[in-house]
Amino acid sequence: MRIIAGTARGTRLASVPRGVRPTSDRVRESVFNSLGQFFEGNVLDLYAGTGALGIEALSRGSERAVFVEKDHRALGAIRENLWRAKAADRAEIVAGDVGRVLDRMLTDGRQFNLIFADPPYRIAATEVEGVMSRLGALLAPGGRVVIESGEAPAAGTIGKKGVTRRYGGTYVTILERSEITMIVAVCPGSFDPITTGHLDIIRRASKVFDHVVVAVGANLRKKSRLPAVERARLIEKVTSEMENVSVEVMDGLLVNYAREQGAQVIVKGLRAVSDFESEFEQAQLNRTMYPELETVFIMASAEHSFLSSSAVREIASLGGDVRGLVPDAILETVREIYSSPNGNI
Ligand code: PNS
Repeated sequence: MRIIAGTARGTRLASVPRGVRPTSDRVRESVFNSLGQFFEGNVLDLYAGTGALGIEALSRGSERAVFVEKDHRALGAIRENLWRAKAADRAEIVAGDVGRVLDRMLTDGRQFNLIFADPPYRIAATEVEGVMSRLGALLAPGGRVVIESGEAPAAGTIGKKGVTRRYGGTYVTILERSEITMIVAVCPGSFDPITTGHLDIIRRASKVFDHVVVAVGANLRKKSRLPAVERARLIEKVTSEMENVSVEVMDGLLVNYAREQGAQVIVKGLRAVSDFESEFEQAQLNRTMYPELETVFIMASAEHSFLSSSAVREIASLGGDVRGLVPDAILETVREIYSSPNGNI
C-alpha cells in the first residue's frame, strides 16, 4: 500500500497489523477522486486502522488530522506511517473508543472539514448509528463525511441520503452536512386523551422534522384522568404508521428531557389566541433554562381549533359521542375509559 497523491506521493505504508482491514489502494483512489479538490482544514479519521485515509488527506493538502483507534497494533502502524509520510507534526493520535472520543470532542466544540468513518465490519449497526448521530455536530459547514462499509447502508443509519458507490464488497457513501444532521423535535403534552387535533399536529411535525418524539408528560396544573403509560399506549396505536415518530413517557422538566433526547426543537400546536398566553410563558421559561432549544408552533387546522382533551373528557363522561374528536382507532377505548364516572373529568 502506498500514498497515492500529494506531497507524500509514493510513500510505502507499513505492513498491515493482523485484524486490521485496510482500505485498498483502489478504493482509496476512488474515494479521493470522488472528493475532488476537497482538501482543506482538519480531518478526522475514525476507526483509523493504518491511518491511510487520514494520511492521504494530509498528503493532498489537509492541514491537520486526528486519528482515533483503540487497537494498540494499529496505533503503532499509524505512528510509523505518519513518520514515513513526514506528517507526524500535523497529526494527533487518540487511543480509545470512538463513541467516547466523539463525546469528548463534542463537549470541546471541535469541528472537522472531512470525516472518515471506516468501522470494522464486525461493529454492530447500532454503534454506527450512535456514531453517525454525533457526526453532524462535528462537521464544519461545507464539510463531508465518508463512510465505508461492508454492506449497503441500511435505512435509519444514513438513510437514503448521500451518494453510495460500490467497489467489490465495499460500499462507500459520501455525505454532506445537511444530509447527516438530524433535526429531532419533541412534541410534549399531557394527551389525556390524544385528540384528532393532536394527531394532525404530530403528523405535520413528522413531515418537517427528521424525527418526532411525542413526550407524554405531567402538567402539574392539571390532574390527569389516565396514567401516563396508558396515554402513551393510545398515542402509539394511532401513530404506528408514522415511521419517524416515537412515543415516550417524560418525567421531570421538558428542557432536561429534550437535552437527553438530543432534540433541537420543541413543537407545539397552537389553536386560538387563548392558547397563546400560556404557551408564550412556557416557551419563554424553557428558553431561559435552555436557550439553544427552539420552540416552534404549528397552527391547528381550522376544524380542530375548538377541540381539546378536556372537552373530550367532559363529553365522554356525560355519555356524549366523541367520534371525530379522537382518532377512530381508539374511539371505543376512549369511550370506555373516559365515560366511567370517577368524580373528575
Ligand atoms: O398538553 P398540555 O397539558 O398543555 O402539556 C403541558 C406540558 C406537559 C407540555 C407541560 O406542562 C410541561 O412541559 N411539563 C413538563 C414540566 C416542565 O418542564 N414544566 C415547566 C414548563 S415552563
